[in-house]
Amino acid sequence: MADPDDKPDRHTVADHRLGSDLAHVHDGDADHDHDDFVDGPIEDNPLWIADNVTLTSVGIDIGSAGTQVIFSKVHLRRLSEELTSRYYVVGRETLFRSPVALTPYQSEERIDDAKLRAIIDDAYQQASISAKDIDTGVVILTGEALRRENAQAIAGLLAEQGGDFVTATAGHHMEAMLAGYGSGAARISSDQAKRILNIDIGGGTTKLALVENGRVTATAAIHIGGRLQVVDDDAKIVRLDPAGQHHAAQAGFRVLNIHAAHGYLLHSFLSPLANHRDDDWGGDFDGRTRLLLQVVGAVRSTWPSDRPLMVRLSCVDDEPGGWTLDDSVALASLLKKAGADVVDCSSGGLGERTTTKMVRRPEGYQVPYASRIRTEASVPTMAVGLITTPAFADSVVREGRADLVAIGREALHNPHWPLHAARALGRDERFERWPPSWGWWLEKRARAVALAETSTDATGG
Ligand SMILES: Cc1cc2nc3c(=O)[nH]c(=O)nc-3n(C[C@H](O)[C@H](O)[C@H](O)COP(=O)(O)O)c2cc1C
Repeated sequence: MADPDDKPDRHTVADHRLGSDLAHVHDGDADHDHDDFVDGPIEDNPLWIADNVTLTSVGIDIGSAGTQVIFSKVHLRRLSEELTSRYYVVGRETLFRSPVALTPYQSEERIDDAKLRAIIDDAYQQASISAKDIDTGVVILTGEALRRENAQAIAGLLAEQGGDFVTATAGHHMEAMLAGYGSGAARISSDQAKRILNIDIGGGTTKLALVENGRVTATAAIHIGGRLQVVDDDAKIVRLDPAGQHHAAQAGFRVLNIHAAHGYLLHSFLSPLANHRDDDWGGDFDGRTRLLLQVVGAVRSTWPSDRPLMVRLSCVDDEPGGWTLDDSVALASLLKKAGADVVDCSSGGLGERTTTKMVRRPEGYQVPYASRIRTEASVPTMAVGLITTPAFADSVVREGRADLVAIGREALHNPHWPLHAARALGRDERFERWPPSWGWWLEKRARAVALAETSTDATGG
């Protein structure tokens, strides 16, 4: 006699949950038919369940400057397509979005994997989600983070530990594509028949996607982003983006001059005429000079040590209650300690006037500032302002009133001023400092002119 326990389990509606066992056969023990469902919520309908899938996903975005973790519920629906069908994402709900944390670096070469791990663990904890709840997701590495030598290993490990089907991906092309489609640019290009350049400015890189007829047709990335400096909780600059420095070096710049004069931002922190803050960045001399000193320190730490770093100061505001030459002397010593090589001595730019006072200015009117700062703060200085003749420029340096001279308007008046000055001071008799193809002609010209002068003298003309 057959054992009643050998009978297959009864087949119930519950067996259809989650779309399982779709190809089952009903035998006499099934407790239901498929044509007599009682009306109920659509979500309970086994066919609906088979066609609709909800996944918990994680997105871990590790960028140049920021790292963020986002958990979502993604709703996919199976839609027919020709003679087959595909699942499409039809809805997404953000479950938790972590605050953007600074991507932690150990050095120029390495991401700090322990700190990064902690940021990500924290996000899982705050979201009350564990890796086993995750059905799918992605770890994305971009920009500066991607360039680090342990980037690939970290992405792989995070993907493995992040949950089921979490993949690791990286690269500017992928990011430009995401931005091109995700921003809606692709849709607009299709709806409005427009060619669109989608510009996605990240922390350390900018991604470009050319979008035409609803598709991204080309991508590019530029190694500079929108987050050029990073400050900590005390507003201290803790990282200066290397991109600016890199591009300057690539372009061949040999000297970097930080502009803290003429009413620009850094000057406006220095001067009591503009800085009315009552926090750490204003108030007394220490507060007002803090930002500039930190900027100089941060720039020095990335600008090559064999290339000069200058700071342009308005040595006096030349306004009642403004910044004074005594202030500039005191600041110059601190700038030197922070890594500046030269103080470029200018003046003015803050106050009621936005233009220079129309007063008679003597030749080299700002040289006394350069001279005093050089002597009292023992910092090399550069003098600028109405230095027009080679002889005067030479005397400023020779007499130790400044270490360098700069010219502005004279260079407009005569772009070859420095070459003429070298000749006038007897340092280029044969035009050897000029481009060779010019020097050859100018040397001949000089001889012809001299000859013409002699023959004029000889004829008594
Ligand atoms: C066309 C022109 C543009 C200038 N632009 C700047 C500027 O962007 N930043 C600055 O600090 N000074 C600027 N200056 C000022 C010069 O750097 C210089 O300090 C000033 O002209 C005084 O020197 P000079 O008598 O040799 O012209 C500019 C001057 C000229 C003539």
